Amino acid sequence: MEFLYYLSLSFFAILFISKLLFQQKKKNLPPSPVGLPILGHLHLLKQPLHHTLETLSHQYGPILSLQFGSRSVLLISSPFAVEECFTKNDIIFANRPRSLAGEHLAYNYTTLGFAPYGHHWRNLRRLTVIEIFSSNSLHMSSTIRHEEACYLVRQLFRDFHGVSQKVDLRSMLFHLTFNIMMGMVAGKRCFGKEAVDVEVGQRFLEIVKDRSVTVPSMLLSLCDFFPILRCIGFQGVEKKMVSLKRKMDAFLQGLIDEGRRSQTKSSTTTTEAEKKKTLIGALLSIQEAEPDHYSDDIIKGIMMIMFTAGIDTSLLTMEWAMSLLLNHPEKLEKARAEISDNVEQGRLLSDSDLAKLPYLRCIVNETLRLYPVAPLLVPHVSSEDCTLGEYHVPRETMLLVNARAIHRDPKVWVEPTKFRPERFEGVDGEREGFKFMPFGLGRRGCPGAGLAMRAVALVLGALIQCFEWERVGEEKVDMTEGGNGLIMPKANPLEAMYRPRPNMVKLLSHL
Ligand code: HEM
Repeated sequence: MEFLYYLSLSFFAILFISKLLFQQKKKNLPPSPVGLPILGHLHLLKQPLHHTLETLSHQYGPILSLQFGSRSVLLISSPFAVEECFTKNDIIFANRPRSLAGEHLAYNYTTLGFAPYGHHWRNLRRLTVIEIFSSNSLHMSSTIRHEEACYLVRQLFRDFHGVSQKVDLRSMLFHLTFNIMMGMVAGKRCFGKEAVDVEVGQRFLEIVKDRSVTVPSMLLSLCDFFPILRCIGFQGVEKKMVSLKRKMDAFLQGLIDEGRRSQTKSSTTTTEAEKKKTLIGALLSIQEAEPDHYSDDIIKGIMMIMFTAGIDTSLLTMEWAMSLLLNHPEKLEKARAEISDNVEQGRLLSDSDLAKLPYLRCIVNETLRLYPVAPLLVPHVSSEDCTLGEYHVPRETMLLVNARAIHRDPKVWVEPTKFRPERFEGVDGEREGFKFMPFGLGRRGCPGAGLAMRAVALVLGALIQCFEWERVGEEKVDMTEGGNGLIMPKANPLEAMYRPRPNMVKLLSHL
């Protein structure tokens, strides 16, 4: 019996490997490690995923084909491959893979991040650019970011007692970014001493706690790679997602209902411009004009982006940047000198100063190069067959871009592991050719890049301008990477010592 079992297993293994080799030869697929039947290459993957994938790329080359269960994967880690995928083949790769998360957490693929490339996605992209991401909208929301930067430094100043104070920066930065997003969405603060709706903040924290259970599954749910597992309710993944979706939906619907109530209450006294001051207000006005196109689910999908794509990415980048600066105090000093030279004494820097602070921008770019918080970008999928260099890429192949590996490739960057913000001097924008892509590239590139760059630079600048910063001990800040490959936090939250700068005390006590 046992003999028969092993015989049939060997038979299927030989069949699988020869099928792979045959396909590879026939169509000239990119190179691939030897896989296992059914599993493909899943058994090779360990956390953090981007590290394992980088090792595979070192062994097999920068263009690699892999098999994750039933799903074909293309893994790229060279500027050449990135250029081919996001220029010549950009439309072909402009789709997202089908997944449990897309179905349950993205209103059945109708949100901007998950919608298939087409009319609906284009419409969402246009709408969100107008309402959130355009220069005009960013200018309008600059007051919210400035106020939150003020609250942050004021809070730090009030919490300061004595010589030097320790602070858990991650939780403070989480509160700040949440308040910025909530300020833009619904016009209220939920964390901090001056919060107007503490309950909403606490509800969100409850949801985020649950989310940490399911976020790894967004990229790596085995059910996406083995559809049969879904039928047997494997590890309750789908159940957890449905429960998370319910909570998130109730949270977002609560905000919409509140927005609707306040619009009706003040409909006689409020002007159209005032109604549109918050994102909810603007979206409800659009809904009134075109109810068939803008259902509550579409509005919730847009709000969800702010809370999911906007918070962790920005706050983790701020945390990586501060960690790097604590390990390189001479760079922190250089940034401070730039701020002192360009922002008058007695005033907190604001959005409009950022253009005069190129070195601060270099620091943010260099942080995103070394620690891109989305190290594999977000998976794309090909909608038809295409070619990549000499290789054939079949339709329905999932594309993973190892941005972190490219950002640290010694063939691409001089002294790639060194923190040297100066390398970005003279570089305009958040991109540098096809070797720097923290926000992705092409049609599906991050629409929030401008907002994120401003928020990160402003907060970092305010912290540098107002306080002296030091590490908690003699040792360097631990820069170990955590996360699951989808998002890359610092493994351990950042703690630091601070004290107000003597020449800022007057300003801080009046804020
Ligand atoms: C430092 C901060 C941020 C980083 C590093 C970042 C990075 C990324 C990356 C790598 C992608 C995937 C691009 C691709 O598919 O190739 C993405 C997509 C996206 N990001 Fe960001 N992001 C950040 C902040 C934000 C913010 C603040 C928002 C909105 C408030 C946002 C909204 C989105 C959306 C909606 C998408 C999906 C776009 C689409 O599929 O069409 N991001 N982001």
